[in-house]
Amino acid sequence: MLRFLTAGESHGKGLVTIIDNFPAGVKIDEDFINVKLRLRQSGYGRGARQKIETDKIEFLSGVRGGLTTGSPISFFIKNKDYENWRDRMDAYKPVSEESKIHTPRPGHADFAGSIKFGLDDIRNVLERSSARETASRVAVGAICQILLKNFGIEFASAVLSIGWAGIETAEISASEKEKQAENRPEKKVQGEKKSSELSYDAYFSSGVNLFDEIIMRNIENSELRMPYNKLEEKTKELIDKMKAEGDTVGGLITAQAKGVPVGLGSFTQWDEKLDAHIAMSIMSIQAIKSVEIGAGVKSAYLKGSECHDSIYYKKEESDGFYRKTDNAGGIEGGMSNGEMISVTCAMKPIPTLMKPYLDTVDLKTGEAKKAFLERSDVCAVPAASIVVESALAFSICCFFLKKFGGDGLDEIKRNYEGYVKK
Ligand SMILES: Cc1cc2nc3c(=O)[nH]c(=O)nc-3n(C[C@H](O)[C@H](O)[C@H](O)COP(=O)(O)O)c2cc1C
Repeated sequence: MLRFLTAGESHGKGLVTIIDNFPAGVKIDEDFINVKLRLRQSGYGRGARQKIETDKIEFLSGVRGGLTTGSPISFFIKNKDYENWRDRMDAYKPVSEESKIHTPRPGHADFAGSIKFGLDDIRNVLERSSARETASRVAVGAICQILLKNFGIEFASAVLSIGWAGIETAEISASEKEKQAENRPEKKVQGEKKSSELSYDAYFSSGVNLFDEIIMRNIENSELRMPYNKLEEKTKELIDKMKAEGDTVGGLITAQAKGVPVGLGSFTQWDEKLDAHIAMSIMSIQAIKSVEIGAGVKSAYLKGSECHDSIYYKKEESDGFYRKTDNAGGIEGGMSNGEMISVTCAMKPIPTLMKPYLDTVDLKTGEAKKAFLERSDVCAVPAASIVVESALAFSICCFFLKKFGGDGLDEIKRNYEGYVKK
């Protein structure tokens, strides 16, 4: 199975990643990877760190003459900020008592991590648990996307909402919610959403087609990676307000994959299911707190006759079979069903706050303290959307290679064509 491992600290020399079992003969487009890395660093609401770093991939092995060789791929992403942390992050220099951190920040790995490993300096936990590691994941996802492009599989992601900006439902009563639900169309076809429906639906699931040309352009031109400009200004105002208050905000993200053939994943064992793998890939991203496939939470509010996507056949469609709705998010019984794979997830607010709002305790003395301040983002939802897209690409790539396996691209192409043409 395709797998990867990452190593590296937030303020160390950099990140090292190894990808194992990646096939030979795939032409590596370095620019494509660096653009994704750049996108992970951008977005309205990011902190000062992103002005220091301009992430670039440097291959150490597994790529030669522009093509993957079939050997483990390893790469390095440098932390420019290391220059400012040399003293504190040195591999040998003893750590001074004054620089040690003993007050865990609520919402971080600090508390459990330092107790679990018996550490007397929380920096040893926070350096590795930091979302700096997501740069590696984005590069891995981009490499997977490059492979899958050969088979017409494409990925996209967007931010549906940030905090409560534009989401009236967060404040309205249950009966008002019911009224809104009654007014919604019986069945929704991907890509046919009107922006007026967004406030309710963004709360539950996406329903938006990220591959629609206008939507794609909107996302590209938005500092928040939002598909509808309607929410942009309101949202920026909210982020500015949070910044002024020394507070933070989370949001909803969606990612999609189109062109995925029928039959990736399996119903035969629990850990062979594509949706389960996607959920783990995405849930393991720092600050992601929910993963929904297709209609997700909304399915609980629908009748069976509304929820399930009827099957149709037309010779002119790519493989003949098609659906008019995609509440299943392209996955049924743990397998891709040929429709768009669609995932929505929630990111919690960044847990490091710029004002001492949160109570904590000194782990050494038991003394009550306020959580310490470490340079941080106000909102990283746009950046996280790229990480989510990358995690989705990795999961789909794992199952694609499992189904069409082969050590080189040509062999995979033969297997793929033999399957889709049958
Ligand atoms: C792209 C991205 C950027 C993040 N930036 C920060 C940050 O600047 N400050 C911070 O405290 N947390 C940040 N986080 C979130 C924390 O890393 C995360 O909440 C923490 O490691 C605890 O993990 P958990 O939320 O999954 O439990 C970021 C997350 C992502 C995905």
